[in-house]
Amino acid sequence: MDLKSRRWWNQDTVAVVTGGNKGIGREVCKQLGAAGLKVVLTARNADRGQEAIETLKNEGLQNVSFHPLDVADKESCAIFASWLSKEHGGLDILVNNAAVSGVVFDDVYVRENNINLQDLMWKNMECSKGFIVDYESARTCIDTNYYGAKRVTEALLPLMRPSVHGARIINVGSYMGQLNNLRCSKLQEELADLENVSEAFIDKFLHMYLKDVKDQTWEDKCWPLKYPNYKVSKIALHTYTRLLARELEKHRDASWLCQYRYDRQHGRHFSPGGCG
Ligand SMILES: NC(=O)c1ccc[n+]([C@@H]2O[C@H](COP(=O)([O-])OP(=O)(O)OC[C@H]3O[C@@H](n4cnc5c(N)ncnc54)[C@H](OP(=O)(O)O)[C@@H]3O)[C@@H](O)[C@H]2O)c1
Repeated sequence: MDLKSRRWWNQDTVAVVTGGNKGIGREVCKQLGAAGLKVVLTARNADRGQEAIETLKNEGLQNVSFHPLDVADKESCAIFASWLSKEHGGLDILVNNAAVSGVVFDDVYVRENNINLQDLMWKNMECSKGFIVDYESARTCIDTNYYGAKRVTEALLPLMRPSVHGARIINVGSYMGQLNNLRCSKLQEELADLENVSEAFIDKFLHMYLKDVKDQTWEDKCWPLKYPNYKVSKIALHTYTRLLARELEKHRDASWLCQYRYDRQHGRHFSPGGCG
């Protein structure tokens, strides 16, 4: 089936993208805009957001607007929700894209050992040398990548408009969020157990990780050795996405409000119909 025959949206369909000022987020805005939807590009920095809008407008897209949104700030989420409600009366698609890498290079180690950064980043995935995993970077990464997506979802869920085609929430995951990145099978099984896992369990899981980072005991535990901040944040996001899909499916209105297909092998989430 080609894209045209699957077209369920029109010029009144509203899509919100977080972290839309650069990278994948900006490209998602561009593709959704080119497909004819009304796109609200959001960014935590107003100048960077406006600049992205100008670029997209220069590329011929007129149906893209900007509003500031810092996913790490609850008040910013509330202000955005209120504006969205007044300006557009709600939304149909939410793309939770904003994220940080949580990576801090150990500059001294890199310099003293004359390390090539590409090798450091992509070779020897079972080695933590060359990176600093401190409490602040871990907290920021988890607060942005997991709690940020959750904050925005909770603020906007009441504004999602019912339609026969289904409103969509797309949480941008990563293969780094695969459960097998955890170095103990018990935790993998607990997080995979959709019958018993809960948001409270995710909170506990993240609290445990942050405590181990604070105590600098994380390498001795079951956390990933490379990119632990990012991997743990995406594992939490994937688990939340599965929980959210299950929760919304319980309600008659919600089975089509939010659709997901979850591919555990690859840790991907996407709505079956796609969004553009
Ligand atoms: N690139 C990849 O290979 C890859 C692979 C798998 C998954 N992903 C996922 O794809 C998504 C986009 O990745 P990317 O490579 O395009 O990243 P990127 O270029 O670093 O862009 C990240 C975006 O998130 C924004 N952001 C960070 N913190 C924010 C906050 N508190 N509030 C609002 N926005 C915030 C950044 O804004 P600023 O410009 O202000 O920093 C930026 O717009 C992420 O979820 C990432 O985990 C990427």
